[in-house]
Amino acid sequence: MEITCEFISLSDAKKDAIAVFIFQDRNGLAQQVEALGKPIGEKLQPAISLKDFSAKKGELLSLYTGKSIASPRLFLIGMGETEKLTLEKIRRGAAAAAKAAQAVKIGSLGIEFPMSALSVPSLKATPSDVAQAIVEGAALSLYRYDKYLTAKEDEKKLESLTIFTSDKKRLNEIQEGVRWGEILSTATWLARDLENAPSNEIYPETLAYNVQETAHTHGFKATVFDQRKIESLKMGGILAVSKGSSHPPRFIILEHNPGNVKSGTVVLVGKGVTFDSGGISIKPAANMAEMKMDMSGAAAVIGTFQALAGLQLPVHIVGLIPAVENMPSGTAVKPGDIVRHYNGKTSEVDNTDAEGRLILADALGYASHYKPDLVIDLATLTGACVVALGHLATGMMGNDQGAMDALKASGEATYDRVWQLPLFDEYEKMIKSDVADVKNTGGRWAGAITAGWFLKKFIGDYKWVHLDIAGTAILEENMDYAPKGGSGVGVRLLIEFLKNWK
Ligand code: BES
Ligand code: MN
Ligand code: ZN
Repeated sequence: MEITCEFISLSDAKKDAIAVFIFQDRNGLAQQVEALGKPIGEKLQPAISLKDFSAKKGELLSLYTGKSIASPRLFLIGMGETEKLTLEKIRRGAAAAAKAAQAVKIGSLGIEFPMSALSVPSLKATPSDVAQAIVEGAALSLYRYDKYLTAKEDEKKLESLTIFTSDKKRLNEIQEGVRWGEILSTATWLARDLENAPSNEIYPETLAYNVQETAHTHGFKATVFDQRKIESLKMGGILAVSKGSSHPPRFIILEHNPGNVKSGTVVLVGKGVTFDSGGISIKPAANMAEMKMDMSGAAAVIGTFQALAGLQLPVHIVGLIPAVENMPSGTAVKPGDIVRHYNGKTSEVDNTDAEGRLILADALGYASHYKPDLVIDLATLTGACVVALGHLATGMMGNDQGAMDALKASGEATYDRVWQLPLFDEYEKMIKSDVADVKNTGGRWAGAITAGWFLKKFIGDYKWVHLDIAGTAILEENMDYAPKGGSGVGVRLLIEFLKNWK
């Protein structure tokens, strides 16, 4: 889909449909209707006087325009009260417009830039922020994973999206927001595609190959360690989890280093379990297919690197992805086995389904080589996190409150939200082992936290934040601008965070 920005008035914009945001203004709808011009105003008047359209949040009215407007269709998007406007409401409004366009299978959609958003005091948004939100909402809502459908559901797809404005002064800023929105949406699509891809397409070798291609086309560095290299590095967790599978493991290292970087290095670690059957501690059959998305942490890191390269953000970022398939077999790791990790510490494998922490332990140890200022790991780590927070917030733990506060703020801004869970010292004893330095399970309670504590045992001398994305990465129902399946969680969150990183 082509996404552009045009300097043109509402009545002259020539698209298959144009969409306008309408607010529940203190002055009523009269002024806004007047701004749409007389012919539209006349058509709209009955809808308003009959109270069929009152611009409430979530309302959408579709009109056919007639002569004096260049576009045949007009979508009026209800935005609710002006003073309560947020960027998230703009994303959702744009998503509603894009879905309305898709429902009538048209090729081009124009969305009028809402100038009134700039004067909402509580929003404090720049024209660029607003434009970015419009593009994200529209573009992300149109995502479908239809690669394997031989008869495609919507044969005709929206080909172009235009943000238009009749305010020439703002055009450059709007253009910049459009650029950011497009890069972030494309990167989120990439993450979703990787998540949704079945495990017979994406397994450690193909994930690595795929990343190398992406790195090549988008301009970041990718290095891949094969099984022999992983053996020589003594990454015992990765080797233990992968040995039940006929697919060998990979350890993928990404690097974004645009030069003249003033801030310290941030390492992003992504769990890359391309399929999690549970291993010998096998999972029940129901919903096991979802576990093709157990590499969502890896997908988030890869999407973030694509966006970092596209935006040329002036930061030095390293990505580490341990990639394995967790399978039961005669060669699989077994309950009771003891593993020695990269940093020399040992863990007792009480449950082979707690595999994510085993591979992350090696990666967190390896991260020390980069002398990072901060390490952030993303992992679909625990079902317990889904029980605690559902699909609306990522679980967050760590050892640095400043970094966590900044991530929380980035989460609010992007609506890729995170919620902190406590890593109290008292939880540590739940993962004590009699035979190894630590055990990979912590019993029935506080499962997201004991998993966090396991990871904490393997971090080096750096600031660290753990993001449990088990609920937010894998959606069981459609959301406003994310269809069910892989959500691409983390990409927009991390870019927002890294954009402000010093
Ligand atoms: N990948 C799963 C966690 C998960 C569950 C992600 C549901 C998304 C949706 C992870 O590897 C796992 O199996 N965790 C176990 C840990 C337990 C055995 C200590 C869990 O949460 O049950
Ligand atoms: Mn598991
Ligand atoms: Zn898993």
